[in-house]
Amino acid sequence: MRMVDIIEKKREGQELTTEEIRFFIQGYTDGSIPDYQASSLLMATYFQDMSERERADLTMAMVESGDQIDLSDIEGIKVDKHSTGGVGDTTTLVLGPLVAAVGVPVAKMSGRGLGHTGGTIDKLEAIDGFHVELSTEQFAEQVNRIKLAVIGQSGNLTPADKKLYALRDVTATVSSIPLIASSIMSKKIAAGADAIVLDVKTGDGAFMKTVEDSKKLAHAMVQIGKNVGRNTMAIISDMNQPLGYAIGNALEVKEAIDTLRGEGPEDLTELCLTLGSQMVVLGKKAKTIEEARTKLEEVIQNGKALEVFKEFIESQGGNPSVVDDPSLLPQAKYTFEVPAKEQGYVSHIVADEIGTAAMLLGAGRATKDSVIDLAVGIILHKKVGDSVKEGESLATIYANQEEVKEVIDKIYANISLSENEVKAPELIEEIIT
Ligand code: URA
Ligand code: CA
Repeated sequence: MRMVDIIEKKREGQELTTEEIRFFIQGYTDGSIPDYQASSLLMATYFQDMSERERADLTMAMVESGDQIDLSDIEGIKVDKHSTGGVGDTTTLVLGPLVAAVGVPVAKMSGRGLGHTGGTIDKLEAIDGFHVELSTEQFAEQVNRIKLAVIGQSGNLTPADKKLYALRDVTATVSSIPLIASSIMSKKIAAGADAIVLDVKTGDGAFMKTVEDSKKLAHAMVQIGKNVGRNTMAIISDMNQPLGYAIGNALEVKEAIDTLRGEGPEDLTELCLTLGSQMVVLGKKAKTIEEARTKLEEVIQNGKALEVFKEFIESQGGNPSVVDDPSLLPQAKYTFEVPAKEQGYVSHIVADEIGTAAMLLGAGRATKDSVIDLAVGIILHKKVGDSVKEGESLATIYANQEEVKEVIDKIYANISLSENEVKAPELIEEIIT
């Protein structure tokens, strides 16, 4: 087989065979196919697209390019959730204990990552003593016992995707639906998921800026999942404004605790119930979405979800008292209010920019080696559609620095008020099964 023939075939809009796709992925991973030929095939794919079968083959070839996590010691259907990323997205912290409380095993491998705040692991490390260094045996034992464990990334998962993603980044081939869909799905499958729930964000603060593109991506991923034997569902959710009120690591842990207690922000609660219902159905702990939702609402009301969160924290070395006393979480030295300069209705909150404001305080990593401050961040007091009186606080800044002018300016610049009433945006745009 010759790579040049494969490139030519795709250039002419023909379908590649399973063997051709594997030849490319294996050769690119082991270095026998050079970057220039891989780039050329990526660009041809960008223009010519891929059939459903090709997308499934590409996904599995990338899965097989490296280690695959074996979760077979864990009982039940392992359902993983993936979000395409947003600002102040606290859902993972809530969903883990929530679905575990109705019996769905959550064996989560998570990362730290770059971004406006840390990743799930950073957030959990805001809890004194909490650690993610579990052996494979401890991990499986804990999930079997309490249905929930989180470990750090280990092993050499999907090296083909790592290499290709880096190449796409510098060859203007990131924004291709078949390439994005196979990239995301390959990572979830290699991490051991039997079934997958996808939260595809749409809007200013999201990777996909339009509902139309988000739908295309969601359909592509659901189709790949079905074709490779991993039941998959997706929702499209709004990311034009941050999710919930809190953006920051310890602040989001507190928000997650509030939500598990049934006292969280409306949008975060609704999103967690929507995604959680899908996870419970895929995990076969309920027959219908309605039945699943009822079960989830029950474990919030009867305290079981919070109880699982406590057991989870304790099992991983953390102090479970934070659940009843969130003041045990890292606290910022200073707080500053951002009072509205006039009255009106909130019309826009630019998610990305508010995230950047949190990052200026030190809540997120700019580079792999940055140290993040777990205590700092922003709590919004208003969301799009809310009315505001002059002088009422739009947000509270939690800082470990006295000088926050730049942050305040950024918040003012990115929360717009309108004289006229504004309708709150729909949170869930669509559910794709
Ligand atoms: N996220 C991924 O993991 N892969 C892509 O290709 C795009 C976004
Ligand atoms: Ca939040």
